Amino acid sequence: MLSVFAGRRGRCVIAVSGFVLCGAVLALNAARAQTPSQGSAVAPEVAALEIAKLKAEIESLRRALPGHAHVMAELDYHFSNLWFAGQNGNWPLAEFYLNETRSNLNWMVRIRPTRRLSNGQDMDLTPVVKAVEDSVLVSLRAAITKQDNQAFEAAYRQTIEQCYACHKMVEKPYLRPRVPEAPASRMINPRANADWPR
Ligand code: HEC
Repeated sequence: MLSVFAGRRGRCVIAVSGFVLCGAVLALNAARAQTPSQGSAVAPEVAALEIAKLKAEIESLRRALPGHAHVMAELDYHFSNLWFAGQNGNWPLAEFYLNETRSNLNWMVRIRPTRRLSNGQDMDLTPVVKAVEDSVLVSLRAAITKQDNQAFEAAYRQTIEQCYACHKMVEKPYLRPRVPEAPASRMINPRANADWPR
């Protein structure tokens, strides 16, 4: 949807699907010159120009988004902290890190839902993420809710298998996740009921 409103000093504001751009003076003047009787109506070629500009803008915003690897590095941080929260029986912290892990997976597909494979085809990551969410992440949440250490460990290891399954699908079999040796966070105390401040 494209709408143009004339401002007091000849400036205009163009609102397109929630994007607002200011200062399109030339565009508005051109539109007026071509359709004097219709006040602020926009000539089709001006509208096309604005849409082309917006498309370029959207493309440059897309390029500025972080890549999958960036999101995965953040997921690595949350998912490794999750293990230590569980090991320490710090269930509220475990729930926090599980939620962060889940939102990292969803963020990855929101940024770009596909991966280009070596055969030139685009692989859709959305169903893979959905499958992980609906299976192993559900088991992890159940273990956290029940405060069941054994179930937590089992679900965590199953999740790692799912992580690796996706890495193989995206042709990165060398990205082998494992149970972490140390938490990624050096700041957050994983122990339950730890004294604070320390
Ligand atoms: C839906 C597919 C998918 C799932 C599920 C997935 N990953 Fe990934 N992961 C990727 C892709 C794609 C990359 C490589 C990104 C790139 O090279 O741009 C990656 C890369 C990584 C990296 C390397 C990041 C870096 O740059 O150092 C880590 C660590 C990682 N994943 C951890 C995990 C863990 C842990 C899980 C499970 C909780 C997981 N991934 C689940 C697709 C997935």
